[in-house]
Amino acid sequence: MLVTICIGSSCHLKGSRDIISILERLIQIHGISDKVQLTGSFCMGECAKGVCVKVDDDLYSVSPQTTETFFNEHILGRL
Ligand code: FES
Repeated sequence: MLVTICIGSSCHLKGSRDIISILERLIQIHGISDKVQLTGSFCMGECAKGVCVKVDDDLYSVSPQTTETFFNEHILGRL
């Protein structure tokens, strides 16, 4: 599974860096680093929805506050 976090300037200001570190920690805690690949991307053209995070080709709007719920539903929930 490929998880792509937007690190464009608008998403960066909304906390994409925090989201990346939270996701890295959750992936490690759950021992799924062999199944989930995290990567960054420049602006996805959906700044109003930021922080934009894609799981494979599906786009989600995530904030640092909702990252754990997002992880449980859309990352753990899909494995
Ligand atoms: S900066 Fe993330 S969609 Fe534009």
